[in-house]
Amino acid sequence: MFKWPEQLMFIKNGRAKQHESHEMMNGMTSIISGSSSGVGEVTLRRFAHAGSNLVMVVRNKDKAEKIKADILKSHNVKIDIVIADFSDLDSVRKASEMILATYPKIDILVNSVGIHSTKKTYNKDGIEMVFCVNHLATFLFTYLLVDRIKENSNARIIQVNSEGHRFGAVKLKDINFKRHIYTGLRSYGASKTAQLYTVYEFSKRLKDFGVTINAMHPGAVKTNIGQNNGWLYRFFFRHFTWHFLKNPEISANAIHYLATTKDLDGVTGKFFNLTIEEKPAKHARKESMQLPVWQLSKELCHIEEDLIEVKNEL
Ligand SMILES: NC(=O)c1ccc[n+]([C@@H]2O[C@H](COP(=O)([O-])OP(=O)(O)OC[C@H]3O[C@@H](n4cnc5c(N)ncnc54)[C@H](OP(=O)(O)O)[C@@H]3O)[C@@H](O)[C@H]2O)c1
Repeated sequence: MFKWPEQLMFIKNGRAKQHESHEMMNGMTSIISGSSSGVGEVTLRRFAHAGSNLVMVVRNKDKAEKIKADILKSHNVKIDIVIADFSDLDSVRKASEMILATYPKIDILVNSVGIHSTKKTYNKDGIEMVFCVNHLATFLFTYLLVDRIKENSNARIIQVNSEGHRFGAVKLKDINFKRHIYTGLRSYGASKTAQLYTVYEFSKRLKDFGVTINAMHPGAVKTNIGQNNGWLYRFFFRHFTWHFLKNPEISANAIHYLATTKDLDGVTGKFFNLTIEEKPAKHARKESMQLPVWQLSKELCHIEEDLIEVKNEL
């Protein structure tokens, strides 16, 4: 019988029948960053359907207000909107402060913010934009909320990662692509690989508190990702790639499963292709990279103290 090589298991897992959860989330508070579009938005709708109160963390208030109004037509949940621009770490800090001041209990945190950029750009602090939005800002946001999250031993954190981590490794000495060639796939891959390393580090620090953190690939789905790129990219995307993509409902169902199923009680520090646990690429499993990327991320976010007490870790 044909045995799938490890590097291609993602194809098999992506086609496999996925697990499902029918758990309700009444009374829970779920925070979803990047919920103004795509995977984040459908997840928001799925969680509303399950009865969770919601906090939308978005950069575009008008867009969020429309989605909120639409959900409230059919669901009796509370929805708040918090503004944060994930290309600006100060903005992420302000959003976290607001959340800490408002919500005494957090049940689920989903970070779905993400971009893919064929052009190399930098944020106002000189950090390569994709690395900042996809990794650093989601790292900082999680980090700043984690003390509150760990007060709830049933809480779960889900980082929407990507099979795209396979396309690029983290060059610790050149995360800004000053000395090696930039491509959209490389920067995307590096950002998602960095996020995976920090998922492992978070999981080590959180395991004594019962809180779990996992990363997931939401499937190759029809969303607005990449629409910030040039006309040729957008033309190819709409007229070719689009036809191979799936409905993002599969992502929402998978995230709902990862957030609620009892099958995953205590399961932490894993990568899931939708709902199926999978080995990430070899470069992303390198233990020797996990702590250095954690420390670099803290440095770039100007975090001096460890908010999370870690026994024998640092
Ligand atoms: N689509 C896929 O096939 C696929 C595959 C693998 C992984 N993913 C991952 O899935 C996640 C969601 O992406 P998507 O496909 O759903 O794309 P999307 O439709 O473009 O959604 C991305 C979300 O991120 C937000 N965002 C982007 N830049 C931001 C910034 N600077 N500050 C705050 N929010 C920002 C967007 O806000 P606006 O609405 O304001 O633009 C939107 O809410 C990403 O992490 C992506 O890497 C997607």
